[in-house]
Amino acid sequence: MTQDGQGFKRTVRSFVRRTGRITESQQRALDELWPLWGVEYSDATLDPEQLFGRSAPLTVEIGFGNGDSLVQLAAEHPEHDFLGIEVHVPGIGHCLIAARQAGIDNLRIISHDAVDVLSRQVAPGSVSRLNLYFPDPWPKKRHHKRRILNVEFLNAVHTCLKAGGTFHIATDWQNYAEYIDELFAESELFRLDERREHDGDEPLDRAATKFEKRGLRRGHRIWDWRFEKIG
Ligand SMILES: C[S@@+](CC[C@H](N)C(=O)[O-])C[C@H]1O[C@@H](n2cnc3c(N)ncnc32)[C@H](O)[C@@H]1O
Repeated sequence: MTQDGQGFKRTVRSFVRRTGRITESQQRALDELWPLWGVEYSDATLDPEQLFGRSAPLTVEIGFGNGDSLVQLAAEHPEHDFLGIEVHVPGIGHCLIAARQAGIDNLRIISHDAVDVLSRQVAPGSVSRLNLYFPDPWPKKRHHKRRILNVEFLNAVHTCLKAGGTFHIATDWQNYAEYIDELFAESELFRLDERREHDGDEPLDRAATKFEKRGLRRGHRIWDWRFEKIG
């Protein structure tokens, strides 16, 4: 059971903490680059202008894994700012290395449960685009409650997005894709802009990710959605 900063308890999380092996270079990147690009989790609301030193459209990516596709997107859009949220520390180390190699300064990272970050730290109405690529599918029925996408999460995303902001999702699990279609069909918070089902050859406004490639190697199809905030 986890105790959060505000004193109430949430028992079901969308991830299991894996310590994983941190390579020497990832550890060095964490030591050297976290002070520059890392943002500590806190209950205080973030001011993106203060964080990035400018006013620019903000994209948030949840569960960026090793961060390769996030860094690529940030490098391709220097006019936008990017905030990555991830709990897997070796992945954060990998992402910091990739960001340094790409020479970008429009990316910041928070190492904490994105559910808390969205509901407490990200300012309401401050996000232009939110990306959730290949979230853990939790395929067993008894684990479906761990899926990050649920009605409460949609509410939190809706609150963070600006008017007209977009929510981008991709998965390689058919059962999760069906669940996502149903969840949004029942929601009055988002309208569907575009939906694609493909073999990795038609990603929707994003780079290929590590877990997408893994899914394709297993013979999975890929589903991409772009939803727009209503209201
Ligand atoms: C299946 S992986 C996908 C990684 C990456 N997006 C990709 O496509 O390669 C899901 C990632 O989400 C992260 N994750 C799961 N729940 C999370 C949460 N509540 N907050 C932050 N990260 C989370 C996990 O640590 C994991 O790295």
